[in-house]
Amino acid sequence: MSIKNDNRPIGVYDSGLGGLSVWRELHAKLPNESLTYLADGANCPYGGRAKEEIRSFADQAVGKLIAEGAKMVVVACNTATAAAIDFLRAKYADTPIVGMEPAVKPAAMATRTGVVGVLATAGSLGGDLFLRTSARYADRAKFVTAVGEGFVEIVEDSQESTPETEEVVRRVVEPLLEAEADQIVLGCTHYPFLREVIEKVIGERDVTVIDPAPAVARRVEQLLDEFNIRASKENQAHYEFLTFAETDYLNRLKKKAANIILR
Ligand code: DGL
Repeated sequence: MSIKNDNRPIGVYDSGLGGLSVWRELHAKLPNESLTYLADGANCPYGGRAKEEIRSFADQAVGKLIAEGAKMVVVACNTATAAAIDFLRAKYADTPIVGMEPAVKPAAMATRTGVVGVLATAGSLGGDLFLRTSARYADRAKFVTAVGEGFVEIVEDSQESTPETEEVVRRVVEPLLEAEADQIVLGCTHYPFLREVIEKVIGERDVTVIDPAPAVARRVEQLLDEFNIRASKENQAHYEFLTFAETDYLNRLKKKAANIILR
């Protein structure tokens, strides 16, 4: 197969700023790929919304990214993946679309206590995707789940480092630890921004926190090769940011992305 290059951007979409945890991995792993990040912003949070509503937001967002010239779209949102991935793949069949998989498998393989904690939104935990994946590994692990109540709002407002945040996180994470979970899966792309706080709550316990973003970035790389659409080695990557919310939100989005790169 001859190598074709495709310097069009990869589109990355989330309800808000959380998908930047996936964007960060793509940025680090695929430095010559341009990225166009779309944060809905106008309808965030998605977590407690009806599936049909989320599907229509996701349709609008993915349609926009493709209209902006995306060669591939990463749905960097577990909730939107759970509600809409099959629909999106059917509707935009010419564009490879990568969704978020709850990292249940690696957690089930690694657990020593036999208990895996899964943190996600209500929409993700109630979706078929999580139910199917967790059922597949039910013989290896018991899954205890918790909705990260308030987590998305904290990340949207960049309040990750306040004492109040530690309390909010402790309230959600402690029951998982009490249930003897030794793996905690971050099943919402906003939650990796709270990783430090989660690890602080975990303290000295031997518990592993699993962020699926690196696995998603590997999947993206695989698909770039499968579809023969990698950017050329000389390509100067461009990073674009879009939102359905107001200008102030766009500024916050760009600021968070810049902070990630500088860290
Ligand atoms: N970041 C999203 C996820 O991965 C959605 C959070 C929300 O909007 O509730 O589930």
